[in-house]
Amino acid sequence: MITDSKRKLIIPTIPQVIVPPHPEWPPLSPQELKALKEKVKMLLKQQNAVLVAHYYTDGTLQDLAEETGGCVADSLEMARFGTTHPAHTLVVAGVRFMGETSKILNNEKRVLMPDLGATCSLDEGCPYELFASFCDQHADHIVVVYANTSAKVKARSDWVVTSGIALPIIRHLSDQGKKILWAPDKHLGHYVQKLTGADMIFWPGSCVVHEEFRAVALERLRKIHPDAAILVHPESPEAVIAQADVVGSTTALINAVATLPNMEFIVATDKGIFNKMRQVAPGKILLEAPTVGEGATCQSCANCPWMGMNSLHNLAKVLETGENEILVSAELADKARIPILRMLDFAANLKK
Ligand code: 13P
Ligand code: SF4
Repeated sequence: MITDSKRKLIIPTIPQVIVPPHPEWPPLSPQELKALKEKVKMLLKQQNAVLVAHYYTDGTLQDLAEETGGCVADSLEMARFGTTHPAHTLVVAGVRFMGETSKILNNEKRVLMPDLGATCSLDEGCPYELFASFCDQHADHIVVVYANTSAKVKARSDWVVTSGIALPIIRHLSDQGKKILWAPDKHLGHYVQKLTGADMIFWPGSCVVHEEFRAVALERLRKIHPDAAILVHPESPEAVIAQADVVGSTTALINAVATLPNMEFIVATDKGIFNKMRQVAPGKILLEAPTVGEGATCQSCANCPWMGMNSLHNLAKVLETGENEILVSAELADKARIPILRMLDFAANLKK
């Protein structure tokens, strides 16, 4: 534990997260790829299932989700999608918290995931017991957690937010004079605090993928491409965010590529997002923001290893076998649903 003497705050020491290697999937010939896609399409229909994919997953899965009436989206939209779609089974290609959120919101539906081991460094770095004790020590704070957390952590919170809605929710709470305990992503937390001036304390977690973007190397790249717009996901370090033209959720960054007049973009987020960016802005030049890999060995190299655990192979397998069902007890789901619905209601009112 570290003590922040200025705020008399005891900051927990969080567990070190082991980053798995990025999975390698057996290459497929064009014929094999076509056959496997057809098989998945047939199984989705047969099982009355719909595919809900995140922008960081393999491009084939993203495209297949859209081709088959499912969706590819950010984590806020992924949570919403299942609540309105009539399918009995939701197949979530993403990471564990996304499957759990879908299950919590759709308790009557079957939720499957290609790999239950697809976690997230933020979720793993925020174990329930440690988090609950941090909350207990600051009982006068409203607890706001990022969606990238376990169902148990969500159940201990007052609000759940995603990167797409964090800013207006924190502003709303701050305007009411609330003190906020924020977990787990410290970079996103500091970013929203800077913009809102909210009274916040932070869990010291971070995303291993975004943590690797490097500010000095980014400055160098900007000099080489002075007309490029810099797009940054707010899980990135402060010095990287400080150089951004646009900071936002995956959806916001994709919209920026589609709508800004620039022809060049430097993108600081997982490279899986380039699939959709290329589709919405063909002809524009997309450059990867530099990571720690420049002159060193990057762990993720801007490619989330847990998102990479989703492939056509294991997608077909779970549809065939019914393996990898997400289960959340009714009692836990009832508790975790409250702060998630609070977020979705807030988002719906904001749209109005
Ligand atoms: P979005 O909600 O912006 O899609 O982000 C999810 C995520 O895990 C980013 O690393
Ligand atoms: Fe988690 Fe980071 Fe992967 Fe997003 S990119 S799922 S925050 S580890």
